[in-house]
Amino acid sequence: MCGIVGVTGTDRSLSILIEGLKRLEYRGYDSAGVYVNDLHGHDYLIKRPGRIANLEAALTDDINGLAGIGHTRWATHGGPSEANAHPHYSSDNRFYLVHNGVIENYAQLKKEYLGEVTFRSQTDTEVIVQLVDKFVVENNMTTEAAFLKVLRLISNDSSYAFVLMDREQPDTLFVAKNKSPLLVGLGDGYNMVGSDAMSMIKETKKFMEIGDHELVIVKPDHVDIKDFTGNDKTRNPFEVDIDANSADKGAYPYYMLKEIDEQPAVMRKLVQQYFGDSDQPQINEELLKSMAESDHIYIIGAGTSYHAGLVGSRIFERLCGVPTSVHISSEFAYEQPLLSKKPFFIFLSQSGETADSRQVLVTINENKWPSLTITNVDKSTLSREATFTELLYAGPEIAVASTKAYTAQIAVEAILAKAFGEFIGNPEAKKFDVKHQLGLVANGMQAITDSKKTLEEVAARFLSKPRNAFYIGRGIDWTVSLEAALKLKEISYVQAEGFASGELKHGTIALIENNTPVIGIITQDRTAGLTRSNLDETEARGANIITIVSRHLAQEDDTIVLPDVDQMLSPLLSVVPAQLLAYYTSLGKGLDVDKPRNLAKSVTVQ
Ligand code: F6R
Repeated sequence: MCGIVGVTGTDRSLSILIEGLKRLEYRGYDSAGVYVNDLHGHDYLIKRPGRIANLEAALTDDINGLAGIGHTRWATHGGPSEANAHPHYSSDNRFYLVHNGVIENYAQLKKEYLGEVTFRSQTDTEVIVQLVDKFVVENNMTTEAAFLKVLRLISNDSSYAFVLMDREQPDTLFVAKNKSPLLVGLGDGYNMVGSDAMSMIKETKKFMEIGDHELVIVKPDHVDIKDFTGNDKTRNPFEVDIDANSADKGAYPYYMLKEIDEQPAVMRKLVQQYFGDSDQPQINEELLKSMAESDHIYIIGAGTSYHAGLVGSRIFERLCGVPTSVHISSEFAYEQPLLSKKPFFIFLSQSGETADSRQVLVTINENKWPSLTITNVDKSTLSREATFTELLYAGPEIAVASTKAYTAQIAVEAILAKAFGEFIGNPEAKKFDVKHQLGLVANGMQAITDSKKTLEEVAARFLSKPRNAFYIGRGIDWTVSLEAALKLKEISYVQAEGFASGELKHGTIALIENNTPVIGIITQDRTAGLTRSNLDETEARGANIITIVSRHLAQEDDTIVLPDVDQMLSPLLSVVPAQLLAYYTSLGKGLDVDKPRNLAKSVTVQ
């Protein structure tokens, strides 16, 4: 959701900006733009609606610079158009600004200070750049002082990552953030800023964190950090160990298919990372002690991560005997339930940047409650701000629809539950051989991804035409049905619902008509028969039935049969056919599988 790149101090600035923007494409966007300055009085601003390819097509050979800013925009205020694309600029063409986030009080600022200004766009961002200009020109302030004044006028509930450039100090990037992600990248003789480390990874592995409410001045040879009262701050850089090539698609037509296929390898990697040569998971003892002091685990997440939490809560309760509840972060942030006396919070987030989840973490930290972030992105905001971090080791997930992060989240929850359960002496944890089970899961996933042809045929036959579809199941199978339905709806635009199968007859069965696809997930001994009866009820009303069933429960006419694993870990397998059904349905409809409409990979606004 909006990507930002900035650079100063190299004649490769334009290509660094374009490469960085391409690496941020996964976040979702609908227009793109760059501003570059050659430090000798020439500057260039190019913006285009649509893909970065449109922007590249508009770049002529004479366009170059030693410093610049780039942006991919995901529309919030005003539709996708050249005028609304970033960078935005002041009426006198002196200041250029890129922004990720939402300025909640922009209308008020506009009314109070900028009544005379003619705006070129409908964005909140343009208000900020015009305001900086006004304070510099009319109040004779320095750019730094004017920017600081504007930052102080922005309401606290706003979110922003800003990079501002001034034609009169063209080698300087004025940078600030609140809630939205932004990092400094330290190059050799030049410096950068970007929404994430991947956007700069071709240039450097050395980064510097930016805190909320800090003003950062980035020049080619140094970086100054101040708080909003003007006090200097010092900060050590950190290094990240990411392979720049791991984000490439290789021979795959879409990232999503590559990422589905990577899941067996991710399971094996997790075993290797968390167990090494031992049979016991290697988990930070301080984390286990902190969890042991709590009386209730609260799992917080959004979308797919929330769904992974629903599975995790069942695993924690079984292996640790500790009450565990799961909450949608955007709900929890504003309707906090009554908490236990000693809560422990687990944040699940692939990106580590989701604004809704971060909003909850801010409150948790204010109350000094302990927390763990389980994330794919080391040093991401949620990782930096939580007490503890455990990583997913899934490699970059680029497709908007999350696949390998969901299964990695469940696997890490299971590893943690095993370690914690044993730490507090729960016999269920001792009995559960998670290392062996994850090995079985990896092999099972491999077998499912090897049978793509069947899933492609099922998708073409049953899912290509209908507008609606249902995934149903009970217990843990119901939680997977929620994730399965989300996958189908987000990339194929089939209106899909995940439903507790016993609940259908209490109203929703009215929606079943001839050829409505109803996909039953059946992996649990206790509920298999009941879900089959619920499927029969829908078939009697005209539904087309598809079944995803564990081998030991399978019957002759089941559609997809899954290898057997411990029933608590069955979501790791039952979700894979659902991911592939969504993929082939989207592909069959000729849709952009990796970049579905209206969606962003990293949701950095509330
Ligand atoms: C769906 C999907 C989203 C994310 C959600 C949270 O396929 O990817 O529902 O799961 O936006 O994102 P993270 O996990 O980065 O916090």
